[in-house]
Amino acid sequence: MKIAIGCDHAGLELKEKVVKHLHERNYEVIDMGTNTPDSVDYPVYGKKVAHAVTQGSADFGIVICGTGIGISIAANKVKGIRAALCHDVFSAKATREHNNANILAMGARVIGIGPALEIVDAFLTTPFSEGERHIKRINMLEEE
Ligand code: RB5
Repeated sequence: MKIAIGCDHAGLELKEKVVKHLHERNYEVIDMGTNTPDSVDYPVYGKKVAHAVTQGSADFGIVICGTGIGISIAANKVKGIRAALCHDVFSAKATREHNNANILAMGARVIGIGPALEIVDAFLTTPFSEGERHIKRINMLEEE
């Protein structure tokens, strides 16, 4: 499974830990940056990861900024993206089951490394429920 991952400067340290964790679990990782501590703009990285997912070069995305908020908003601007900001395992599972979320967002200034890695595992291993009511609601997300 291929995972695209991106962050801003505030998310860099956590991204590096998540990348290592993903490699240890044999995921293929597409690291879309940033890769230096210089200040950068989170919309650039949120949208890069989002496009990798919608274009099919990645199965799922992970985006990280200070709060996870800005970069999740950026990713969600791309049609077809359902980015979920999760800081607990219950939400990470539920958003896969109910929303078929295709991007996980986290805030590096909000959450510690231990919970973050558990959230990543929960998100990537929980299947979509395929429930009829959930499919209907997900389709409604794309309506104007
Ligand atoms: C950067 O300082 C910070 O604004 C960014 O990482 C994020 O928290 C935005 O939502």
